[in-house]
Amino acid sequence: QQRRISTTDILAQKGGDPIVALTAYTAPMARLLDAHADLLLVGDSVGMVLHGMETTLPVSVDMMVMHGQAVMRGSQKALVAIDMPFGSYEESPQQAYRNAVDIMQRTGCTAIKLEGGRHMAPTIAFLTSRGVPVMGHIGLTPQAVQVDGGFKVKGRDEERWTELEADGLAVQDAGAFCVVLEGIVEPLAARVSNALTIPTIGIGASSACDGQILVSEDMLGFAQRVPKFVKRYAEVGQMIDEAVGHYAREVRDRSFPGPNHVYQSKK
Ligand code: KIV
Ligand code: NA
Repeated sequence: QQRRISTTDILAQKGGDPIVALTAYTAPMARLLDAHADLLLVGDSVGMVLHGMETTLPVSVDMMVMHGQAVMRGSQKALVAIDMPFGSYEESPQQAYRNAVDIMQRTGCTAIKLEGGRHMAPTIAFLTSRGVPVMGHIGLTPQAVQVDGGFKVKGRDEERWTELEADGLAVQDAGAFCVVLEGIVEPLAARVSNALTIPTIGIGASSACDGQILVSEDMLGFAQRVPKFVKRYAEVGQMIDEAVGHYAREVRDRSFPGPNHVYQSKK
């Protein structure tokens, strides 16, 4: 029985060994990733990646809890953080606290993540001062897709850099133990990572961050199209296509099941 990586372990990795983070939604995938990752995020990207939704906006607390329970069952070592879905925390610090505690109590996860910078700082402070560890998420925040008019990279315009840096500092000062920087230009990622004393975990935010996260299905090659920042480390989608094609041919020509895959009566 191994001790799980804690929020203070992650905090201690600032400026040291890069933090290895990946998304996980299911027990078997969590089991495979747990051997290699410091942090597993049950991202609300599950709505798009596993449920085929167009955005993350329809994802519910119950969906996050179901996937969170599966990931907790499948992992032993990594810190598990669960995304608070759209509409479950923005209304008030009290609403956020109620839903965060619900997610933590029903899953046993260590931390929650929520999107937003300066405007969410009072909520982050309310949570962290009451026992809820918070992972921040700034830059491209997918739950803002409809007000942003799409998934748009941030910081191409240098005039906005001080705002994003202020978001990072606000999240840190409110007590977050780390912060995801998503979809921002490299010099801005470097600037925010240098300005903060908590680790930054980048996705589409360059190697200047203290750690990296990717959607596991994207890096494994499940998706047909992935954003520019994703490196495909495998082509699992192609492997599945070939394997299933092989199975279909063998069923149709009756070569599967063969003698090794069949039960016989005692003689
Ligand atoms: O939902 C998600 O998967 C995320 C990460 C990619 C940071 O928020
Ligand atoms: Na997310």
